[in-house]
Amino acid sequence: MARHRKPLIAGNWKMNLGLAESEALAKQIKSSLPETPHCDIALFAPFTALGAVRAVVSSTPIWLGAQNVFWEKSGPFTGEISALQLKDAGCQAVLIGHSERRVIFGEKSADLRKKIGAVLDVGLFPVLCVGETLQEHQAQKAREVITSQIQEAIAEFTRQKLKSLTIAYEPVWAIGTGKTATPGQAQGMHDFIRNRLAALFDNEFSLQTRIIYGGSVKTDNIDALMAEPDIDGVLVGGESLKADSFIRIINFARRAIHV
Ligand code: PGA
Repeated sequence: MARHRKPLIAGNWKMNLGLAESEALAKQIKSSLPETPHCDIALFAPFTALGAVRAVVSSTPIWLGAQNVFWEKSGPFTGEISALQLKDAGCQAVLIGHSERRVIFGEKSADLRKKIGAVLDVGLFPVLCVGETLQEHQAQKAREVITSQIQEAIAEFTRQKLKSLTIAYEPVWAIGTGKTATPGQAQGMHDFIRNRLAALFDNEFSLQTRIIYGGSVKTDNIDALMAEPDIDGVLVGGESLKADSFIRIINFARRAIHV
């Protein structure tokens, strides 16, 4: 089977930017896009800015994404937003289980499983974030942690249902710290995740699922990361708030296998 995974370059704006700033950043990114980008691009904007960013990106290849979702369809869940509401707001993709959600807000795998189900049911693309903490990393537990995070979140679905799944490997010790996993370390974990996917489902599924890397991705490490065979894109936090840097990241040096 051909190994054709189109890279995904995604910006996670987190709890940053007002309406005017979000609109301006989206416009700068849009106006600098190559005519036919060699990757998919997604902007995970704050909920309040989804409308403003949607207006800018709606007829472009840029996907609009949300940073979180609740699994119920509607009802008395004050402060929550459903997958259908996100779809209605123009989203195509949703981040699930970012480490900040897991660590600060106590999200558990059982929650993430329900969120993935809700997102898939309305036809949005889930980006499931997994990653070990510094403590787990130092205790050599990374593989064990990643294995259970993946298994608990997706094992109950069929591979057909998970066709649009992207996995983001984001070692927690590399997020916002300036400490990036080396391309070799990231590649090693991506290869491990791909093998887990093959074990959980089958080889074909593992070869077609995008696995992207996140954690202090910058203009000066993007090319080396993207040169690795199992790194199918990146999830960028801090550097995605700067138009010039994010555009440079979108224009990463291509590798034959990515085109
Ligand atoms: P960072 O964040 O690029 O600022 O390290 C990445 C993320 O949390 O998705």
